[in-house]
Order: sequence, then C-alpha cells, then structure tokens
Amino acid sequence: MSPVPLIERYRDALPLEPDDPVISLNEGSTPLIEAPVISEMVGARVLLKFEGANPTGSFKDRGMTVAVSRAAGRGAEAVICASTGNTAASAAAYAARAGVRGAVIVPEGKIAIGKLAQALMHGARVVALRGNFDDALRIVRELAERHPIELVNSVNPYRIEGQKTAAFEVIDELGEAPDALAIPVGNAGNVTAWNRGFTERGARPILYGFQAEGAAPLVAGHPIPNPETVASAIRIGNPARWEEAMDAITSSRGRVAAVSDERILAAYHLLAEREGVFCEPASAASVAGILEHGLPVAEGQDPPETVVCVLTGHGLKDPDTALGKAPAVIPCDAELAAVERVVFD
Ligand code: F0G
Repeated sequence: MSPVPLIERYRDALPLEPDDPVISLNEGSTPLIEAPVISEMVGARVLLKFEGANPTGSFKDRGMTVAVSRAAGRGAEAVICASTGNTAASAAAYAARAGVRGAVIVPEGKIAIGKLAQALMHGARVVALRGNFDDALRIVRELAERHPIELVNSVNPYRIEGQKTAAFEVIDELGEAPDALAIPVGNAGNVTAWNRGFTERGARPILYGFQAEGAAPLVAGHPIPNPETVASAIRIGNPARWEEAMDAITSSRGRVAAVSDERILAAYHLLAEREGVFCEPASAASVAGILEHGLPVAEGQDPPETVVCVLTGHGLKDPDTALGKAPAVIPCDAELAAVERVVFD
C-alpha cells in the first residue's frame, strides 16, 4: 500500500470540516514489526508499532496533520506548542507545509539534538525556556488565550483524533485488536488517543502505560516538581491528560508502572542490537516495561497472547544518547591488510 494522507484514509472517523485543506506529509501507515527475541523473553507474541517511521520521525505527525489542517481551515496564521522535542519538530514541519508561522517552546538543554535541528530547519521560532516542559505548557496555554495563535499540544482535541488512527491501523493489519498495548506515557495524550481508537472500533485491549522512574507522576499519584530521566521526551511531571489516561488504563484492567533509566537503556540497546529496530530512549520504555513488569492481568482474566509495543520515535532523533554508550569506532589506515586485521580480528 503506497502511503496516502492519514486524513484521506480515515476521514469518516475524523471531525474535520469538508472545506478544511489537507495538510499532510503522508503520515501513518507505519510498520508493525514482529519482535521474536522480545516475544521469547515475555512469553507472548510481541509486535512493535514503529511510529519512528512517520515523516518527522514520531507519532506526533498523526495528530499534527489533523490539528494543522483544522487550524488552516479556520484561517490560523500561526501555531505554537510547548515540547520535549518531537511535538516541536512535527509542528514546525506541518506549519511549514501549511505556510503558517510556527513557534515552539522547549526546555533549555533538555531536548535531543535531532529534534532541535528539525524545528530549526523547518523555520520555526525556537525558544529555549529556562524551565521544564510543565512550565512551558503552562505558558503556551496562556499565550494561546491572549493571542490569535493555535495551540497544537495534545490538549488540542484534533491531536488526539489524529493519533487514534494508530489503533485503527493495528486492528486493520491484525484483523482484530491485540490483547494488550504497552506504551510510554509522558503528557498522557497518546495513551488517551490509542484508547479512543480502540474504543471507537469496539475493542478493549489491556493498556500498560510506562513512565520513567524519575518522571512518574501517574505512578506516584501526585505531580513531580523536578522530573528527571534520560528519556527526555517523557521528562514530564504534571501530565495534561492525567485523568483521562488513568481512566483509560484502569477501565482496561491495565496498569501504569515505572521503569528505571537503566532498564530503559537496556531495552533501547536490545531493540537495536537484537531486533534491528532503532527507537529513541522514551520509546523503549514500552518494551522495558513489559520486560520488567511482565503482563499482569486481573483475577479471572486470560494472560495476553498478543501485545503491541508502541515505539513512539526514531532513534536518530537522539544521537548523543546512542553514541554515549556505544563502543568506540576503530580507526584504520586505508590499506587492505590493515582493514582485514581490524574486521576479522
Ligand atoms: N514518546 C515520545 C518519543 C514522545 O515524544 C512523547 C511525548 C511520548 C512518548 C509521550 O507521549 O506525551 O502523549 O504521553 N512527547 C511530547 C513532545 C511531550 O513534546 O514531543 P504523551
């Protein structure tokens, strides 16, 4: 199937107006990849929904195509977001595509370098806030109330509508919903969106949400004032869709749990080295979560046989983390014998 705009594939399920332009980069239709090594480790069939294959390298594009199309339909001239990086990259790209201005507010020094490059390349105004994501979100919400600028964070309902299409794709490809979904949780928009997608198709998989140990407000049950984690994309202490996400997880008889940075990085390396899939650290929280916590079920419930792990963003977003723990490259003279020695040593 050649890629077509997600809005065209699922228009009937999306609340766009008939005259809204379709601002698209042919997002969605991402691969669902069997993970034999992880399947063996957890004792269930595990599939990876590789959202890093979206045009800007993360799941944000699904929501952004819908939010920016609606904004353009309304005649918006500018869009704004707070971001740990991926929303910024996606908003900047879709704003460029729509011919509107983009402004993105990111926590200074805390976003992966690839994401910064994307936002800058697409011509957005990039503001490095001396504060964290939660501060940035509070400020952009106020700005959007005072100025005629469209807020494209996942508090925007069109973002959730677009992102729910990931659940549609999985159901369409498998012919039915998986028994369980494992997903990293930051601002809690994406788990809310997947839940909506499944619910609209009458499906009820168990939802396992995973947060980084140093940024796990949903697990702690209260906001975390200074969240910290190597998984910078989910370094969030006060998720905007807290209650909806918890309702979704609880009513699916699932759980929200924390995973340490060490285990996130172990899963990140395992995915790259054994499954051949390079995702960013935050994405690996979904796999780290099921490896650490297993696939718990409520009493009387069957253990899940098929589990989809959402890999939310591409590994190339964050080369610093990748190179930080990688083995050294091997310098070599440009001679056959020298190369032979280092390759076959
Ligand atoms: N994974 C990645 C790679 C992300 O970028 C995000 C969120 C999440 C998981 C969590 O999704 O917030 O819907 O629960 N990134 C946002 C951003 C916050 O600004 O790019 P969520």
